Amino acid sequence: MNITILHGQSHQGSTCRVARQLAERLGGTVTEFFLPRDFGQFCTGCTACFMAAEEKCPHYERLAPITRAIDGADVLTFASPVYVYHATGAMKALLGHYGYRWMVHRPSQGMFRKQAVCVSTAAGAGTRSANRDMADSAFFWGVGKIYRLGIGVAATSWDGVSEKKKAKIQKKIDALARRIRGRAGEVKPGLKTKAFFAVMRMIHKRGWNETDDRYWQEMGWLGKARPWK
Ligand SMILES: Cc1cc2nc3c(=O)[nH]c(=O)nc-3n(C[C@H](O)[C@H](O)[C@H](O)COP(=O)(O)O)c2cc1C
Repeated sequence: MNITILHGQSHQGSTCRVARQLAERLGGTVTEFFLPRDFGQFCTGCTACFMAAEEKCPHYERLAPITRAIDGADVLTFASPVYVYHATGAMKALLGHYGYRWMVHRPSQGMFRKQAVCVSTAAGAGTRSANRDMADSAFFWGVGKIYRLGIGVAATSWDGVSEKKKAKIQKKIDALARRIRGRAGEVKPGLKTKAFFAVMRMIHKRGWNETDDRYWQEMGWLGKARPWK
């Protein structure tokens, strides 16, 4: 199993521990990126990725190793500590660069058979909204199955997390790992994704932006082909 972890911070605290423990339980090859250490660019808003091609993004080359790891993963993990109720700015900055991959534009075929996990930890509250920040991208990229693991650690560092809490976290991780392993190789998107895809297909049939329409045409999705088949 190929696991790619996108860490929304550059340090190895509670969130990193949780994401790594999950990867360990899943077993396989793990590729990790720490943000902003490994990619810290902000989208310039040029819209070249939408209108022309993703290769026209001024950060395309720097992003390429992350894009390759995303595409090669069976399981994608988005892991971010909660900062003021949301995913970190570094995580948001990365996800902004993949707007062109949203279903309304040019989703990558491989996404529909992947699983993704959104992991966030907070001292108290905010994991729901932080996980939503990341799950939104996973859903609109077309990821077939998305899980959310939000943990209130009642601490600001892993050393401060109680042993009782750590044991509870481990149990949650074990249960989630079992679910993910059980689905490995058999992922198909649910009704919500398929319905959204159908609406996007209608939009592209009628005509949207030229680059996106051509992509849908080339993928055969305006005909009978579907990315999950
Ligand atoms: C800038 C900043 C903002 C934070 N905002 C929140 C918050 O909105 N809610 C919360 O419960 N904890 C908040 N925290 C605490 C962290 O989310 C929490 O300690 C988390 O477990 C840290 O994960 P890490 O060890 O991976 O960095 C914040 C911490 C920082 C540094």
